[in-house]
Amino acid sequence: MPASVIVGLQWGDEGKGKATDLLAEQVAMVVRYQGGDNAGHTIVLGDAVFKLQLVPSGVLYPHIRPVIGNGVVVNPATLIAELGMLAGRGIAVDRVRVSRHAHVIMPYHVALDGAMEARLAGAAVGTTRRGIGPAYADRAWRIGIRMEDLLDPAGLRRRLTRILPDKNTVLRRTHGLDGFDLEEMIATALGWGERLRPHLADTTALVQAALARGEGILFEGAQGTLLDLDHGSYPYVTSSNPVAGGACTGGGIGPLQVDEVIGVMKAYATRVGSGPFPTELHEAVGRGIAERGREFGVVTGRPRRVGWLDAVPLRYAVAVNSVSSVMLNKLDILSGLEEILVCVAYEVDGDRVEWWPSDADVLARAVPVYERFPGWEGSIGGARSVAELPAAAAAYVDALEELAGVPISLVSVGAERTETIHRRDRPVRARLAG
Ligand code: IMP
Repeated sequence: MPASVIVGLQWGDEGKGKATDLLAEQVAMVVRYQGGDNAGHTIVLGDAVFKLQLVPSGVLYPHIRPVIGNGVVVNPATLIAELGMLAGRGIAVDRVRVSRHAHVIMPYHVALDGAMEARLAGAAVGTTRRGIGPAYADRAWRIGIRMEDLLDPAGLRRRLTRILPDKNTVLRRTHGLDGFDLEEMIATALGWGERLRPHLADTTALVQAALARGEGILFEGAQGTLLDLDHGSYPYVTSSNPVAGGACTGGGIGPLQVDEVIGVMKAYATRVGSGPFPTELHEAVGRGIAERGREFGVVTGRPRRVGWLDAVPLRYAVAVNSVSSVMLNKLDILSGLEEILVCVAYEVDGDRVEWWPSDADVLARAVPVYERFPGWEGSIGGARSVAELPAAAAAYVDALEELAGVPISLVSVGAERTETIHRRDRPVRARLAG
């Protein structure tokens, strides 16, 4: 059974939840390796729709152990609410494990995220205002609170007594906001710890033991490659590493323990938040795709920006993630368009550019060079094989495969698990001995 990484190849919201859902039967564990409650997974199971922010989508399967790895930043209030929601809908949540080393998003992180964004005004990143950036910053600054600290009253008091006055000073003096009360915060945080105590674990040990038993594990990234802190369009990025390498640092494995990397992309592009988006569509075509594709943020409800598929960052994403196969989502949303455009290169300051210039200033000047493909009529939701697709749709998928340079193994033509075409086998590396 392979250890598989599922990674978004665009700006997030590629439909990674459906990929997890399709592979769930083959795995014993699903591990989230980065991000926090800035992410939103929507899983459709029959008539039921589940929207999850923190708990890996594998929780919906009784045989799967869902793990929140050390690379995730956890807002305990969100986690507790999510566990409660799932339990209320009959899902057993006692299996959920959270790394003792995962960092906690504290209320001052949320307040500072919002305050910073407001202060940046026109230059704002367009964050989800969930405190993600400030929590990761404190981790790097070594003043973070980890999940295990919530179980240690004396240690927590010591840390918060040192940290909180500085946070309150910034909130009050720089941003003109109220500060937080130390005793109240300690009591709240210890309450979270008591509630979450049964879920805290050394998740690296759990992951390594599962690998040693030969079990299948899915490492589930949130957001996407183009929002990666290192590889995305900095500074319009999130504060962690959604790329496949993040599964190693944030999930507790080494690079040679990954057997396959499944890149997930949509048949077009979307982006939430600020930042350059060379193929963005501002006219009716874009609005039509947004409406048919229900392109609204799961967490914030913000309408997503929509554009043509961009093969320039796609090539880059395939490379930096070492993608072994691709799942192509939402092909059905393009049905009815007369013509479909795909960006194959940029013109930047008069030069043709094929390798993604992740620098936001360069991207802002990039003019897309498009290839045009004929569209197709009618619904394709019923297709279960390439042969059942209109010829133009099949040709579009072939062209994307050529541009990506790796096999497109799965093509999704609807939200349901069954609305999927198994186009090719996924290449999976034989697990190394020992
Ligand atoms: P943050 O992760 O809240 O700090 O936001 C940083 C950037 O990442 C903003 O552009 C957000 O809109 C974007 N972002 C964060 N999470 C997601 C997601 O799950 N889907 C799409 N965009 C996201």
